[in-house]
Amino acid sequence: MKFLDRAVLAASAMIMATGAQAQVDVKVTVDIGKPGPKIERAVYGQFAEHLGRGVYEGVWVGPDSDIPNVRGYRTDVVEALRKIKVPMVRWPGGCFADDYDWRDGIGSREKRPMRLNKFWGGVPENNAFGTHEFMDFVELIGADAYVAANMGSGTPRELARWMEYMTAGGASAMAQERRANGRDKPWSVKYVGIGNESWGCGGQMRVEYAADLVRRFSSYAGLHAPGTVRVASGANADDYNWTEVLMQRAGTQVEAISLHYYTIPKDWATKGQATGFAEAEWASTLRNARAMDELVTRHSAIMDKYDPEKKVILAVDEWGTWYDQEPGSTPGFLYQQNSLRDAEVAALTLNIFHRHTDRVKIANIAQMVNVLQAMILTDKEKMVLTPTYHLFDMYVPFQGATPYPATVAAPPYVLGEVSIPSVDVSAARGTDGKLWLSLVNVDPHKAMRVTTNLSGKATGRVLTGATMDAHNSFQKPDAIKPVSYSGKIVGGKLVFDLPAKSIAVVAVD
Ligand code: AHR
Repeated sequence: MKFLDRAVLAASAMIMATGAQAQVDVKVTVDIGKPGPKIERAVYGQFAEHLGRGVYEGVWVGPDSDIPNVRGYRTDVVEALRKIKVPMVRWPGGCFADDYDWRDGIGSREKRPMRLNKFWGGVPENNAFGTHEFMDFVELIGADAYVAANMGSGTPRELARWMEYMTAGGASAMAQERRANGRDKPWSVKYVGIGNESWGCGGQMRVEYAADLVRRFSSYAGLHAPGTVRVASGANADDYNWTEVLMQRAGTQVEAISLHYYTIPKDWATKGQATGFAEAEWASTLRNARAMDELVTRHSAIMDKYDPEKKVILAVDEWGTWYDQEPGSTPGFLYQQNSLRDAEVAALTLNIFHRHTDRVKIANIAQMVNVLQAMILTDKEKMVLTPTYHLFDMYVPFQGATPYPATVAAPPYVLGEVSIPSVDVSAARGTDGKLWLSLVNVDPHKAMRVTTNLSGKATGRVLTGATMDAHNSFQKPDAIKPVSYSGKIVGGKLVFDLPAKSIAVVAVD
């Protein structure tokens, strides 16, 4: 029996009836004597694919737009992203990356070719947003670039030329071409993806073949951009054989391998709605989000066999919720609303990453604007910040922080076949020197009284809502947002009264 299960059973006995109201007692022990490897800022990465209104409309409106913009980028979106200190953005896909010719996106915008975005609705792609626009964008928001290269339909030479175009100085013909297109100084490309979902939209490959291609493509990426972290296209969810074979055959050729995992309430055929869902889907979604822990644990264990020194990063470069698309939205655009449930998923997932900092040093939520579990939704000139945005905002202090183990003795939240710990906790020493705590209550009905082994003053913010699907709309953009929150001292211990279905983040002084 795992420690967590024991803790859950022990804590079940702690539920005490006090009059008509059930008070649920939870115990949290933070061990500041056992710091772990730091939480890399890059686990707070974003993903911006040429998909639906993610890039066009969501980020890029063009310099001639009536929507306020900075050199073509929406001012409101740029400011919002700067506020949550986005450390890195992955682009241009996803599936789109393996059908993308980077040469389509350079040079005069008027002369760029029109293609069809075959993966996502077959819509025209005018290539107005290309390499210069992406690299300028990440500089504008203060993020690092993660460029996903085409291994599915491209060649190693195209990849080499692209890397050279972006990073070379001196007399190289590619550097000269970049200069002619308006950028003198070489860019820094911190991460490069070697293919995407090679087992699926990225070429339908067998892992043995994909591993050989990774060796070949990564050689030329390394040759032309030494120092760039090469991320090989890795496993889909629980495809452990993919990780085994990739590590065995190509593990020494790259700095990272990826893992993709999406949280869906039901199944891929009928995923479930983003709002207006029953409690059963709240419960199944949060249970399925927690499955990330087992996935990371088991993929990491396989990596340990080939890389006991843990040099190769596990990059969870696509994660998040995936629901049925919003009724009335364009087919293939993957536009969905975002509710308190999504913020809970984000909190649980980020807490899992905080517990696996030995391997997970890169992650990208899918996706940044208007697609899947987005930070931001836009409608023409209007913009809405989602509960997931607010969660990322509250979690900024965890970027670069040093995590501590936290044990939680909490009763389970049970509904039908779902039984998960009702409270999840992450603790870390921030770069500001403060001890930061995240407290997540997944129970939609019961408030928790969380007693810690800490003392001192704790203040911060809490995110909760009247309903499980509380969300912001263009009509009510502030329906759900964080409010001030603090702990109190009871019997010499720091105690938190945690509302039902809530996430609190506090600094302990
Ligand atoms: O994020 C949407 C899609 O999901 C990506 O393009 C692909 O990599 C994954 O299947």
